[in-house]
Amino acid sequence: MSLRQLSQSSLQFILFGGKGGVGKTTMAAATAVEMAREHKVLLFTTDPAPSLADSFGQKIGSEPTAVEQVPNLFAMEIDASKVLKEFKEEYGSEILDILQQGTYLADEEAEELFQMEIPGLDEVMSFKKIMDFMDNSEYDMYIVDTAPTGHTLRLLMLPDLLDNWIKFLGTLRWKYHTVVRHLAQKGNMEGADKFLVEMKKTVKKVHALLQDVERTEFVVVTIAEKMAVAETQDLIKSLHKMQVPSGHIIINNIFPQDESDFIRKRRGFQDQYIQSMKEMFPHHIITEVVLQATEVQGIAGLQTLGTQLFTETAEKEG
Ligand SMILES: Nc1ncnc2c1ncn2[C@@H]1O[C@H](COP(=O)(O)OP(=O)(O)O)[C@@H](O)[C@H]1O
Ligand SMILES: [Mg+2]
Repeated sequence: MSLRQLSQSSLQFILFGGKGGVGKTTMAAATAVEMAREHKVLLFTTDPAPSLADSFGQKIGSEPTAVEQVPNLFAMEIDASKVLKEFKEEYGSEILDILQQGTYLADEEAEELFQMEIPGLDEVMSFKKIMDFMDNSEYDMYIVDTAPTGHTLRLLMLPDLLDNWIKFLGTLRWKYHTVVRHLAQKGNMEGADKFLVEMKKTVKKVHALLQDVERTEFVVVTIAEKMAVAETQDLIKSLHKMQVPSGHIIINNIFPQDESDFIRKRRGFQDQYIQSMKEMFPHHIITEVVLQATEVQGIAGLQTLGTQLFTETAEKEG
């Protein structure tokens, strides 16, 4: 089995997620290199510990950076905390208005509330950045190397979390308007209201994109080990619950068939986990990737892996 189906569809948005260290960045980068043969691709990471630069062996910036030796491929590492800071700079006064006008908070108290961390806002803002690229149709395909499982789930729950946050601000706003109307003042749409409407739209768009079967696919990357299988199960369950299309699993770092007792033994354990994942996820396309003798780094290694990922292999007898 392979990822080939991904290149034969209308997909626009491919996310790679899974436990830390299983090969997400490597698989996302190899897929991006392969896809760039026919599409203009933007690869980006939302992992707070990004490593696209290591993977490519090139400097990758916080804005789309042309990847050397791969025409049509651009990569960027999004610093979520920086994006959030920019967001607060842009909308800070509107949010503060809402907090001050809708509550009886003193200026400093409202300021304090504003500085508080809103869970996941940084991540959704990173997504918003991508959606802005999409709106301008700058690339044909967007590939995301996501943060390890825990973060990814948070990101996927975001639309709801954020929705609640917006509702909360909306309630404050409503209270404010009631008071204002009471005082017989004109209810013009103010900056704060516009902001709420904008945020609401963004969240809705992120939600719609993440659930769009035509455009989106979440590829789960894992390895054949007990803990990884359990995490994979959780992740796939969550994706299902959040209606994020996900039909592919990559099992990475599989030991090659080998004569040595040590490798044969390890491979034997892996085969059991591989088999149980096949039974657990009968509807997923499972791609198996062998552990290489060296780390997969640099364009040549990624190209080889990319080709391998997209080449159909016959199902082994099992
Ligand atoms: N099939 C493989 N064979 C050999 N090394 C691999 C393979 N897949 C990944 N690696 C190496 O394992 C390390 C971790 O991979 P990475 O993609 O950074 O994981 P993650 O992004 O999930 O944390 C990297 O050094 C990468 O080169
Ligand atoms: Mg990584």
